[in-house]
Amino acid sequence: MAARIFCLLPLAFLFILANSQGQKNISLTDTLTPTSKSSWLSPSGVFAFGFYQRGNGYYVGIFLPGTPSKTVVWTCNRDDPPLPSNSTLRFDGSGKIVLSSAQAPDTYVATPSGTTASATMLDSGNFVLYNSNQEVIWQSFDTPTDTILGGQRLPAKQELQRELHSSASVTDPSTGLFLAIMQLDGVLALYPNGKPFTPEYGYWDSGTPNNGQDVTLHLENDGFLYLLKPPGIYLANFTSQGLPKEDMIYLARIDPDGIFRLYSYNITRNDDLFVKWHEPIDICSPIGLCGLNRFCVNNGQDYACQCLPGFVPVEDGNGAAGCNSTITAESCKNAAASYDMQLVRTIWKDATYSALTSLTRDGCLEECRQDCNCEAVTYNASQSCNKQNLPLTFGGRDPDGNSQLYVKVGHAGPQDGGRNGSEQKHTRRDILIAVGSLIAFAIVMLAVSVIIVHRNRFWVYERSPKEGFLTTIEDVAPTSYTFEDLKKVTGNFSEEIGRGAFGTVYKGTLMKNEHSSKAVAVKKLKEISSDGEREFLAEVKTIGKTHHRNLVRLLGYCHDGENRLLVYEYMSNGSLADVLFKAEHQASWDVKMRIAQNVARGLLYLHEECETQIIHCDIKPQNILIDDNMQAKIADFGLSKLLKPDQTNTTTMIRGTRGYVAPEWHKQLPVTVNADTYSFGVVLLEIICGRRCVDSSLPEEEAILEDWVYHCFQAGELDKLVHYQTIDQKQLERMIKVALLCIQEEPALRPSMRKVLLMLEGTVDVPIPPCLTSFLSVI
Ligand SMILES: *[C@@H]1O[C@H](CO)[C@@H](O)[C@H](O)[C@H]1NC(C)=O
Ligand SMILES: *[C@@H]1O[C@H](CO)[C@@H](O)[C@H](O)[C@H]1NC(C)=O
Ligand SMILES: *[C@@H]1O[C@H](CO)[C@@H](O)[C@H](O)[C@H]1NC(C)=O
Ligand SMILES: *[C@@H]1O[C@H](CO)[C@@H](O)[C@H](O)[C@H]1NC(C)=O
Ligand SMILES: *[C@@H]1O[C@H](CO)[C@@H](O)[C@H](O)[C@H]1NC(C)=O
Ligand SMILES: *[C@@H]1O[C@H](CO)[C@@H](O)[C@H](O)[C@H]1NC(C)=O
Ligand SMILES: *[C@@H]1O[C@H](CO)[C@@H](O)[C@H](O)[C@H]1NC(C)=O
Repeated sequence: MAARIFCLLPLAFLFILANSQGQKNISLTDTLTPTSKSSWLSPSGVFAFGFYQRGNGYYVGIFLPGTPSKTVVWTCNRDDPPLPSNSTLRFDGSGKIVLSSAQAPDTYVATPSGTTASATMLDSGNFVLYNSNQEVIWQSFDTPTDTILGGQRLPAKQELQRELHSSASVTDPSTGLFLAIMQLDGVLALYPNGKPFTPEYGYWDSGTPNNGQDVTLHLENDGFLYLLKPPGIYLANFTSQGLPKEDMIYLARIDPDGIFRLYSYNITRNDDLFVKWHEPIDICSPIGLCGLNRFCVNNGQDYACQCLPGFVPVEDGNGAAGCNSTITAESCKNAAASYDMQLVRTIWKDATYSALTSLTRDGCLEECRQDCNCEAVTYNASQSCNKQNLPLTFGGRDPDGNSQLYVKVGHAGPQDGGRNGSEQKHTRRDILIAVGSLIAFAIVMLAVSVIIVHRNRFWVYERSPKEGFLTTIEDVAPTSYTFEDLKKVTGNFSEEIGRGAFGTVYKGTLMKNEHSSKAVAVKKLKEISSDGEREFLAEVKTIGKTHHRNLVRLLGYCHDGENRLLVYEYMSNGSLADVLFKAEHQASWDVKMRIAQNVARGLLYLHEECETQIIHCDIKPQNILIDDNMQAKIADFGLSKLLKPDQTNTTTMIRGTRGYVAPEWHKQLPVTVNADTYSFGVVLLEIICGRRCVDSSLPEEEAILEDWVYHCFQAGELDKLVHYQTIDQKQLERMIKVALLCIQEEPALRPSMRKVLLMLEGTVDVPIPPCLTSFLSVI
């Protein structure tokens, strides 16, 4: 739809003086149809405005009728469906161009900012409407699609800024995967469509940062392509200046494969276009060229999208469609032991859900092999072992050969994954070579790192911002802020969004760069332990190091005088308490089960997988936040240590919230991760039953959820718990059993979160929970 909006914009800003020489007025009473008179030609006949054909349908645009493929340089309403052959194009009474077809209501191809007196298709490739004073009131050059022509500019200035969007394919002019933009910092950059304009996604840029917003991309009639900064500074010459030639025209286009190319066309030869210049050089550079679980392989002239081993393409012949795994949860459960981990020398967008450290390569692979959630893992020379969440995106061959992605594959024999013999042999040999060189590389890296670490004692990892792109706060986390900063971010703490044991939470807005911002939650802590700065910073560092998709991310902090604040990512869907107890409609069973698994994953990470073990101490629905995609993330982890008195003496004071607190808190027993498991069990019961753990408005026997569940469980009346909703009985029983195991009075009898997760997923069987002693003591 973006394209349509562009087309209909009234155009107030004219950066080209339309050349009025050699122009030919179009009769405003003319009508075009795809089958009879289909276009208006420019005087030389090189450009045409009107209907062009793609597949069985037609589009309205500007094209080169002399080229064999009728090269298109502009399309109107490119994302609308193709038009039928009995469509018509004509001027209405006020000079707007109206497109009529039997299938759809009339649409405007051009709505000029005045009454059209004359119209012309210029030899420059610009289609222009004039008013009676011969002033330009609309021109196609103002709304480029994927191409600019000689004489056309791509400005950056805010109100003129235009993006060039690639077409979906050579035969489909609708909006495709890539875009080119003249950024406000003076950089021409290429990005995948729909991704943020950050260094993470930018795959090429002109390397001309910090030049302000007046920089414009120029293409001249002689094929000279350059960036100009007023009053006359050539920031970058992509091609060189020449003499304009009568018989040549030039066009620069972002192509469906994401490459930005300059083409020449000799109008006397009815030939195709010739590439004069292009960037980036590596055809596999465009990020997202291949679909999910697929990586790009450069074959010299062309590229291919290859599936990960053991994966099959979702759609034949379409590299942008992804590949699917042949391993299912069910097959993993039955055959986990027989899987192999296969090395693929590729790089991907990091999708780590669990980061393990200090493992050998074999230890790392074994971790993944044993874990039915894990289908791929990266391992590198500094012994970091990152389990990757499928699907993997933005795959490409690794030019340096030092990324190691291992994929879980079955032992299904040579026909595995739909490959055939020769291909497979090839891959095997590749892998042998890869393994050999990797081992050698690992040894060298190890030696180098030992030397470096030895020399410097410690080693600070710093990501240097890539030249040219705007940097964002996400590159370095957590960031330190002053109190004044956060006052600004939150509009002087004007919007309170929550209040809890640790303090008050406010909504705020962080600017990522000039044109994008990010909502954040700023937590003003109270009652901070007196130990002061060092402990605070140490804790913040620990929290900042935990990265997991089921934990709310800490973006920054403030330690300024008396003030202690933490800045978190903002969760748009509130807390689990809102979802369970406040929402008008309960979330579906499937969504609720996914939320339970999300919470279990987050806790597993805190307990077993992050560098410093973290006991949350206050798991409850209010501390579980829900994002846009209904994924749950745990909040407030690591905070219990920040409160006084010192948490190392875990037996002194009860933390947490009534109803969710494990019995050992009351009994002066040491508190371990099992206390979180208990709280998780209570939350799981609340998720299953959609009610609070203590609800005195209910009949007495139902008021305490734990007791009521156990009662129903023993009586075989689980339906009562879910108010007779139709839920798969086996699944319901499994969930209840898991929850009852978690709330065992004796901490040692509770399962680990790893076990809990496997049980929730149905990967392992759930034992019958022993009697709940708390329940018996109530009787
Ligand atoms: C085109 O139409 C305009 C307005 O009617 C008129 O002024 C101009 O002379 C015409 N040009 C040609 C080449 O006929
Ligand atoms: C246009 O063509 C479609 C089929 O392509 C047909 O259904 C429709 O009746 C035609 N409309 C007119 C006005 O001829
Ligand atoms: C870029 O082109 C302009 C115009 O031809 C020329 O004056 C300038 O010296 C060129 N700059 C570089 C760095 O080549
Ligand atoms: C364009 O093609 C014609 C015919 O082949 C040739 O004579 C002419 O030199 C070409 N022009 C350029 C600029 O190459
Ligand atoms: C591939 O996997 C996705 C996600 O699991 C699924 O939605 C899709 O139907 C699968 N496609 C095929 C062709 O198996
Ligand atoms: C290994 O991975 C870790 C974490 O992803 C990263 O910090 C480190 O730089 C990597 N080391 C090498 C040698 O690539
Ligand atoms: C085997 O490989 C060839 C060449 O790569 C390919 O044309 C053919 O379709 C493949 N056969 C199967 C069954 O995949």
